[in-house]
Amino acid sequence: MTQEKAELHRGLREVYIDRTTSSFIDGKIGKLYYRGYNIDDLATNCSFEEVIYLVMIGELPTEKQLDDFTVELRSYMDIPEQIVDIIKATKEAHPMDVLRTCISAMAAFDPEVDDNSAEATLRKGTRLTAAAPTIVTTHARIRQGKEPVKPDPNLNLAANFLYMLFGEIPDPRDAALIDKDFVLHAEHGLNASSFGARVSASTQADLHCAITTGISVLKGPSHGGAAESVMTMSLEIGEEDNAEKYVRDTLSGGGRIMGFGHRVYRAVDPRSLHLQDDLKELGERKGEPKWYSILQKVVEVMQPYARRGICQNVDFFSGAMYFLLDIPEDLFISIFAMGRIPGWTAQVIEQFENNILLRPRLEYVGELDRKFVPIGQRS
Ligand code: CMC
Repeated sequence: MTQEKAELHRGLREVYIDRTTSSFIDGKIGKLYYRGYNIDDLATNCSFEEVIYLVMIGELPTEKQLDDFTVELRSYMDIPEQIVDIIKATKEAHPMDVLRTCISAMAAFDPEVDDNSAEATLRKGTRLTAAAPTIVTTHARIRQGKEPVKPDPNLNLAANFLYMLFGEIPDPRDAALIDKDFVLHAEHGLNASSFGARVSASTQADLHCAITTGISVLKGPSHGGAAESVMTMSLEIGEEDNAEKYVRDTLSGGGRIMGFGHRVYRAVDPRSLHLQDDLKELGERKGEPKWYSILQKVVEVMQPYARRGICQNVDFFSGAMYFLLDIPEDLFISIFAMGRIPGWTAQVIEQFENNILLRPRLEYVGELDRKFVPIGQRS
């Protein structure tokens, strides 16, 4: 036996694998920065287009730069007919499976697919960010037997998402909520999906591979899938008065309250505070304040956990907001994915710039030198 006793870091908890300038999470006090800017400033002042530029290029754009970038983004919103055919062929699958498959297939139509330079990767990231809402909404309509709606070049990405989903120009207040939601999801340190994207990039695979990996990793309920689970929980609770018993029964049965807890935050996730306010406003506007009340009651019952650093995260209020916007529940996680493509792109560019193969080890704890038995002699 030659293996030495390894020092394990299960889950890579607290392990730093590299340096970044893309984003910083101050988990102790619940602060988040993209490229040095506080998320609170960005969420209240910037459009998603501005934030895509900031995250992927590193600086806030001037008005002229933003105008040019917006024109470029909108020019990439149409998707090839062959992608529509793939959507038709896979329409019964979960929206994240369709998005993952289509992003992967978009490689076949990108003239720069194999070019891993920063410039080409940035252009590809721009194209994929622009195409993702069209893919998601085309699928959502095709599976309902409806004609896809072409993107409107006069609308931003968030408004286009709602327009292509429902076939009507959205209420600007609804579009503004999705716009802010995209801003809040754009980048977030070495979360599991960004790590997955970086592992792909570290082998010098291209951006389409990395983003396909990111979408795959995001799908799980421990990561991006929690918003849908929170809405399921809210529907099961049904009324504010049932919330306390629901939470206590779930916890005493060994379950988790979805939308709570985080690997890095030990305080309230600052993104959830914005979504909390947005949900309150939307619930009142739509005459359905009860979802906000139910979730606030859950927060109240979870107070003892807050003292242990288990607080509400970005997914806690977003699901109810999407629900009130009539967005189908299995699309919630795709909204997270659409918002995160700029962050994955920024981190892939960083990985390429100072690349090292990401290849950790596993401590082998199985048997060695077992006696080999030919197949015909095995019992
Ligand atoms: N409800 C109740 N207890 C919890 C929860 C929760 N949601 N989350 C963590 N805990 C407890 C857990 O039981 C454990 O307790 P103990 O030490 O007594 O065994 C302790 O907190 C540490 O949990 P962990 O699983 O070791 O922590 P982690 O850092 O590996 O997990 C997490 C992070 C997000 C997977 C976890 O908090 C969780 O499952 N939350 C619910 C799912 C969720 O909301 N996910 C969205 C995350 S935010 C969006 C994103 O950026 O991905």
